Amino acid sequence: MLCKKKNNLIEGVPGFIKKSSFHLSGKNNKIIFGKNCNIVNCKIKLYGDSTLIFGDNCYFENTQIMLRESEARFGDNTESSKTTVTAAGKSLLDLGAGSVICGELDMRNQGIIRAKRLWTTWGPHIAANHGLIEFGDGGTADSIIYNSDFHPMYDLEGNLINENQDVIIGNNVWIGRKCFIFKGAKIGDGSIISSGTYTGKEIPPHSLVAGNPGRIVRRDVVWAVKDKPELKEFFPLAPDDEEDMRAFYNRAYEVTPTIKHRKGCVWLNRLRMFFVLFRAK
Ligand SMILES: CC(C)(COP(=O)(O)OP(=O)(O)OC[C@H]1O[C@@H](n2cnc3c(N)ncnc32)[C@H](O)[C@@H]1OP(=O)(O)O)[C@@H](O)C(=O)NCCC(=O)NCCS
Repeated sequence: MLCKKKNNLIEGVPGFIKKSSFHLSGKNNKIIFGKNCNIVNCKIKLYGDSTLIFGDNCYFENTQIMLRESEARFGDNTESSKTTVTAAGKSLLDLGAGSVICGELDMRNQGIIRAKRLWTTWGPHIAANHGLIEFGDGGTADSIIYNSDFHPMYDLEGNLINENQDVIIGNNVWIGRKCFIFKGAKIGDGSIISSGTYTGKEIPPHSLVAGNPGRIVRRDVVWAVKDKPELKEFFPLAPDDEEDMRAFYNRAYEVTPTIKHRKGCVWLNRLRMFFVLFRAK
C-alpha cells in the first residue's frame, strides 16, 4: 500500500496485532512486514525518511520503536519484549535472524548498532552515537555498551581528547550483569566478561575478564548456555582450531525460541494498516 501524497508505504500485513499503535508522520516512511509477524502491546512511530523492516515470524511484545530519518531492520524470527528502540539522524539498527532482545537500543547522529544475532536479557542499554557498535552472534545481560561519551572533553589547548571509537564484540561472547563496555572495546570470540567489569580495551578470544579496570584473569575458557552431557565429546578443545570451536559453540550456544505465534484476521489487519497509512500527518 502506497500513499502517493507523502510517499509513505506499508508492505505486507502483520499476522496478528493486539493493543498496538502505529503512527506515521512526515514523508518517505516505509514499514515492511515479513510473513506471520505478531505485534502485541507495541507503539511504533516513524517521523519521516524512515524505514522499519520486520523479517518473517517476528514476535514483538511491549516494544516501542521511534525512528526519525533512520532505519531499523529485524531479521527473521526476531523476538522482542520490553524493548525501546530510538533512532534519529540517519542512524541504523540491523539485527540478524533469530535475535532475542529486550532493553534499550539507542542510535543517534549516524550511530549504527549491528549484530549477526543479538541475544539480550534483563534489559541492557546499548547506545551508538556517530559510529558503530557491532556484535557477532552474542549476547549481554543488563550492561551498558557505548561507543561514545556523549559529551566532548578537551585539554586546555582545545584538543578533543575523548573521540568516539567503535565497539566490536565477537561471536559467542558472554557479557555478564552490570558491565560497562566502553568506546574502543574489541572483545574476541568466546570471551566472558565477568559481572561488574569496566573495559574499553582489546580482549583476545576466549579470555575471562573481570574488575574495574577489566583485567584478564584467565585465558583459554569456553562457556555454554546450559551444561549438557553431549558437550563433553568436544573436549579437549584447542583455542586456535576454528572448526572445533565452531562445532562446540553450535551446540553450546543453542537458544530455542519460546514464543508461539498467533494468527489474526488478515483483512482486518490490512484495514488497520490502510488507516495507518492514510491517517498519516
Ligand atoms: C564470569 C564468572 C561466571 C566467572 O566465574 P568464576 O570463574 O567462578 O569466577 P571467580 O569468582 O572464580 O573469578 C575468577 C578470577 O577472577 C577474579 N575476579 C572475579 N571478579 C573480579 C572482580 N570484580 N575484580 C577483580 N577480580 C575479579 C577472581 O578473584 C578470580 O581470580 P583468582 O583465580 O586469582 O582467584 C563470574 O565472575 C560472573 O560474572 N558471574 C555472573 C555472570 C552473570 O552476570 N550472569 C547472569 C546471566 S548473563
